[in-house]
Amino acid sequence: MSDEAPQRVRWHGFASVPELQADACTRIRACANGAIAARGVFRIVLAGGNTPRGVYEMLCRAITDWSKWQVYFGDERCAGANDPRRNSRMAREALLDHVPIPPANVHAIPAESGPIDGAAQYARLLHSVGEFDLVLLGLGEDGHTASLFPDHDWGVAKDAPDALPVFDAPKPPPERVSLSAARLSRSRAVLFLVEGRAKREAIARWRSGERLPAAAITPAAGVDVLTESELL
Ligand code: 6PG
Repeated sequence: MSDEAPQRVRWHGFASVPELQADACTRIRACANGAIAARGVFRIVLAGGNTPRGVYEMLCRAITDWSKWQVYFGDERCAGANDPRRNSRMAREALLDHVPIPPANVHAIPAESGPIDGAAQYARLLHSVGEFDLVLLGLGEDGHTASLFPDHDWGVAKDAPDALPVFDAPKPPPERVSLSAARLSRSRAVLFLVEGRAKREAIARWRSGERLPAAAITPAAGVDVLTESELL
């Protein structure tokens, strides 16, 4: 993949956030059950931020073989393992603590070790992990996704490391670990969950072809963006 790889985007607008969340759950469940039937495992990458929380809470009720889920994270904030700012904590509280996924199948980013060590450790772990089945992502007001921010290195080159240390993030906390755009693109499916009026401008810039971090996620199958109709 070069940093000029084209991105195919399918936009899906919903009249309300609950409808968006319900559709996201349906897609995630279908993807999980399809992957488990075909390959016996479902490798999902969870997103951070506030938007996915409602989806995770709804997903707890899904009928799926949770023992076949392998859970990874797209990014993490550098803070103690149980810090309330951590994406892994949000995912635990909203989803992982409520479903029978074996704890050994949940692969948190060791961001408590700091950006450099945390990224190096997670890159080693991901080295033996094949293509993801589903990557969930959010969108920031500045067009960032995961912890890939404008004017930072997004790791778009084919040989970019799987995980990147992030310093000076404009969204707190400043130190983070993020999967690279190249690694996030190695997925059978990628689903963006975008809600809130504050995202309207970022969506308009993305749709107009601006080179934003979100536009650098280029899986072969394209990406699906679930958002509110009024933002499109
Ligand atoms: C993070 C995220 C980030 C997030 C967007 C949207 O850890 O902050 O992974 O990329 O998804 O900033 O966040 P909201 O859903 O809170 O708007």
